[in-house]
Amino acid sequence: MQISSEELRSKYLKFFESKKHHIISSASIVPENDPTVLFTTAGMHPLVPYLLGEAHPYGKRLTDVQKCIRTSDIDSVGDASHLTFFEMLGNWSLGDYFKKEAISYSYEFLTSKEYLGIPKDKLYFTVFAGDDEAPKDNESYEIWKSLGVSEDHIFFLPKENNFWILGSGIGPCGPDTEMFYDTGKEKCSEECNPACDCGKYLEIWNDVFMEYYRHEDGTLEKLKQQNVDTGMGLERTITVLNNLESVYDSEIFAEIKQKLEELSNLKYQDNLTSFRIIMDHLRTATFILADDHGITPSNIGAGYVLRRLLRRAIRHLKKININDYVLNDLANIYIEKYHSVYEELERNKEVVFRELEKEYHKFNNTLKDGERLFYKTIKHLEGNTLSGKDAFKLFDTFGFPIEMTEELAHENNLEVDIKGFNEAFKEHQEKSRTIDAGSFKGGLADSSEESTKYHTLAHLLLATLQEIYGSDIIQKGCNITSERIRFDFNLDHKLSDDEKAKIETRVNEMIKTNTPVTFEEIPYEQAKAEGAHGTFENKYGEIVKVYTIGNLSKEICGGPHVQNTGVLGHFKIIKEESSSAGVRRIKGILE
Ligand code: ALA
Repeated sequence: MQISSEELRSKYLKFFESKKHHIISSASIVPENDPTVLFTTAGMHPLVPYLLGEAHPYGKRLTDVQKCIRTSDIDSVGDASHLTFFEMLGNWSLGDYFKKEAISYSYEFLTSKEYLGIPKDKLYFTVFAGDDEAPKDNESYEIWKSLGVSEDHIFFLPKENNFWILGSGIGPCGPDTEMFYDTGKEKCSEECNPACDCGKYLEIWNDVFMEYYRHEDGTLEKLKQQNVDTGMGLERTITVLNNLESVYDSEIFAEIKQKLEELSNLKYQDNLTSFRIIMDHLRTATFILADDHGITPSNIGAGYVLRRLLRRAIRHLKKININDYVLNDLANIYIEKYHSVYEELERNKEVVFRELEKEYHKFNNTLKDGERLFYKTIKHLEGNTLSGKDAFKLFDTFGFPIEMTEELAHENNLEVDIKGFNEAFKEHQEKSRTIDAGSFKGGLADSSEESTKYHTLAHLLLATLQEIYGSDIIQKGCNITSERIRFDFNLDHKLSDDEKAKIETRVNEMIKTNTPVTFEEIPYEQAKAEGAHGTFENKYGEIVKVYTIGNLSKEICGGPHVQNTGVLGHFKIIKEESSSAGVRRIKGILE
């Protein structure tokens, strides 16, 4: 029997509608009521308040198809089964029916000719074996038997297998009974059972009997109502029922696969990993961008996951020789495929296209700089491990995601010292905090020759910005490494290319004047009277250090600085962006 995703969706909803369930639409991909996770991970996630007793506007029997994202296995995407986005079919009893009806409905849907029509001997079941917290689920066992299932098709399994709770480990939960499809493969051993991952038995559905609540301290309490929560992964189920080798072989991915083959002139079969990563990540990214939650690529939270998915997909597009901009065309394939189920895809189409394009361009710049530095670094590498410090430099200087560094490293048969990276990251955070607190009076943490140049550059940059935009411009923040400067200042608009060029030109002119940099220590009041600039004035002591660069700049500053502007080299802006409302951020390098 062959079944498509459309058919499975509509059969499922129709079946439960016939059992008096109200069809509700998928909730947002971001759970409204759970700040502990970034994405909705199961059909029950948006329904938690109702499982706990709140009245649902559509009653006690609900059914839906929920869009879900699970990214914990993101690194496994590329194999035959992992997906970061999936649809979960589900039906719920909110304190209405319990085990008997739930199991009977499941069995009828799976076996009845009108619905899935799976031969009964192909189905296997597991039930909860019980422990000192919750009793053995004999009731479910008896119900399966009463429907005609033979005893050797039912297995009692422990909590690891047959007790379900959200990933956070807190919330409504309970024992479950799971349904498996026998692929017909040989048993891998005498003990082989549905819990075995040899591939003989594949799970297609889970009925959870939610009658408990797990508290943060680990204790289990009975809920005031007995609920049913079920979940059937749509992609997985059509893969199993259609006897396919991989989830990527289903009709869901047929069109994008064909398009990628056309664009790359390569075969899917010869490039499984890249094709699958692109197909999976772009589908997930399209759904995130189209969601009404308004998530866009960023460096934190859900925005970071989105950025990571997109950037990884873009890299793999390049790997299969697709260098033109094709993201909108590819996303559009998914929009066409899904918009009749998820109308927001069509409604928010322009947002999806715009954000994809923006991120593509941002990433290209990052890639160019980051990859160059990566290869430069590994040229001089001794051994086969990239140090945490080097990995951090890539991250900090070019915004090159650590996962990308790891991927590039693996492609070059290298390891990355992740522990070292995390330490460098922490150290950096602490350093920034110290600098933010203005407590750098005692000298800057990093006074290497390269960093020192950037400190002097900061003065020239401020002087230039004041020349161009007026004396109201002040330094709002400054972060320096031996590789680059990040400089924040108050300005109400995005810099145009012309403006950036003008700033670069003027700073470089200043550098070329070969002006000596001098300092004196004078009373704070005198420094102010002489017109010295200083951002953290109230943090300074009575006597302050004032650095003067000819008639170009005069600033209260702890230093250190170079002795002559001429040594700075050539200044280049690599990025300009908003830092916060009314504050622009320039990232620049000295070449
Ligand atoms: N909530 C259950 C699951 O996600 C049905 O598997």
